[in-house]
Amino acid sequence: MEFIREYADWFYLIGAVLFILTLRGLSGPKTAIAGNRYGMIAMAIAVLTTFFVADNPVIWMIVGAMVLGAVVGIARARTVPMTQMPETVALMHSLVGLAAVLIAIAAIIHNNKLVELGPDLLAANGVNFHEMSRVHLFELFVGCFVGAITFTASVFAYGKLAAKKWAKTISGAWVKPVQALIFIAMLAAGIHFFLTGNMTSFWAMTALALAFGWVWIAPVGGGDMPVVVSLLNSFSGWAAAGIGFTLENNMLIVAGSLVGSSGAILSYIMCKAMNRSIINVLFGGAMGGAAAPTAAAGAAVQRNYRSGSADDAGFLMSNADSVVIVPGYGMAQGRAQNAVKELANLLKEQGVTVRFAIHPVAGRMPGHMNVLLAEADVPYEDILEMDEINSDFPATDVVLVIGANDVVNPAAKDDPNSPIYGMPILEAHKARTIMVIKRSMATGYAGLDNDLFYNDKTMMIFGDAKKVVEDMTKAINGTGH
Ligand code: TAP
Repeated sequence: MEFIREYADWFYLIGAVLFILTLRGLSGPKTAIAGNRYGMIAMAIAVLTTFFVADNPVIWMIVGAMVLGAVVGIARARTVPMTQMPETVALMHSLVGLAAVLIAIAAIIHNNKLVELGPDLLAANGVNFHEMSRVHLFELFVGCFVGAITFTASVFAYGKLAAKKWAKTISGAWVKPVQALIFIAMLAAGIHFFLTGNMTSFWAMTALALAFGWVWIAPVGGGDMPVVVSLLNSFSGWAAAGIGFTLENNMLIVAGSLVGSSGAILSYIMCKAMNRSIINVLFGGAMGGAAAPTAAAGAAVQRNYRSGSADDAGFLMSNADSVVIVPGYGMAQGRAQNAVKELANLLKEQGVTVRFAIHPVAGRMPGHMNVLLAEADVPYEDILEMDEINSDFPATDVVLVIGANDVVNPAAKDDPNSPIYGMPILEAHKARTIMVIKRSMATGYAGLDNDLFYNDKTMMIFGDAKKVVEDMTKAINGTGH
């Protein structure tokens, strides 16, 4: 015990280095598993060390909370489908925000108890209250309001991504003035608390921050939610770092800062992929996105398109020189990744060059397609990012779009009136032949019709992604090419 207490900072340093290695590992699919392991070890070191350095810990409470958290966490991790990961992540961020608020409240109550002891008794115990309180008030002010905003904003993001009725996008001329009003009132109450330590101001600031988190995120459209979730990830990190100062815990400061900065970088990368600025995402109002794909939407549009069978498609692909597969949310939804890998292998055996093209926001979470293709053991060298593959589409014989829609919508390039205009896309429309697997003519996440499906070069193959891909594989096997 004493040993751990004495060398606590060294243990924290080891934990911090492991957290940095975690982030490094998670930056590529090949090293991601090792990255995860570093993270687990780092977290274990951080929790155990904190356990031993705590003053008079109430053991049953700490162990009870850890066991409860572990049980809920393991149960959720085992049961959550990959498609529900984004809302699960949003919900977890909300807990970090809530923890920051609760710790701030606990620290203030504790502080007030110290004040009640009186300056003489504090001085006798070597506590310089005035100096401590001023610094703490600032940390509490920042940690608490960032935490409170993160909490309600994340709960809303969860509701929005899970298509809950209570998480409705709000719009109207009143939204921005109300946002501004709440924000200014929140800052005023927070500054008053910081300057005077007044508890009424503290409670007012916390309540206003909770309200602000909601009205701030509620106008953001469905299409922008991934960026918001990533930004809230960053916020939860900064809130944790702020509380790390309050608790004088170096590990929490380092880990919080790592989460805060990596979340901010990811938000920036995603905004770039959608050709949008953070300010535009957060304060530009709804992008017109639907909360979730609806099978019926878009079906009413009467335009001509060409459809074909899995057999036709299999025949065409086995006679091609090059095939690029563009996976999207539908591949995840249909759990078709293993069937897709089989198809790719079969085509390769027949001498066809097969590659996968990944859009940064394909699916429903960052890296969604990479995770699925890694799960199916698709070789990393066959998987190309948007910037690497886009110039190859004109020389590609067949592009096979599997359950992707928005990420190949040419309106993003051609139609200045489209809500997604300016978002970079995979330029599948430039390939010689385009095949699209989906179940209907329904729209994707953004709720928009897609000209690619009506292109003269396009063949629609209707059906569930897994079934169609398996049928294609059977057809190619049958042809004996
Ligand atoms: P979407 O535009 O959502 O299109 C997916 C398509 O898959 C749908 O049109 C649907 O058509 C089809 N589909 C669904 N289930 C299927 C199944 N079992 N078999 C075959 N097809 C199926 O997907 P995308 O192109 O990947 O674009 C992603 C969108 O999600 C973007 O708008 C992005 O901004 C947004 N978003 C992304 C993220 C991240 S970070 N990746 C997070 C949240 C939101 P049918 O119904 O006709 O089958």
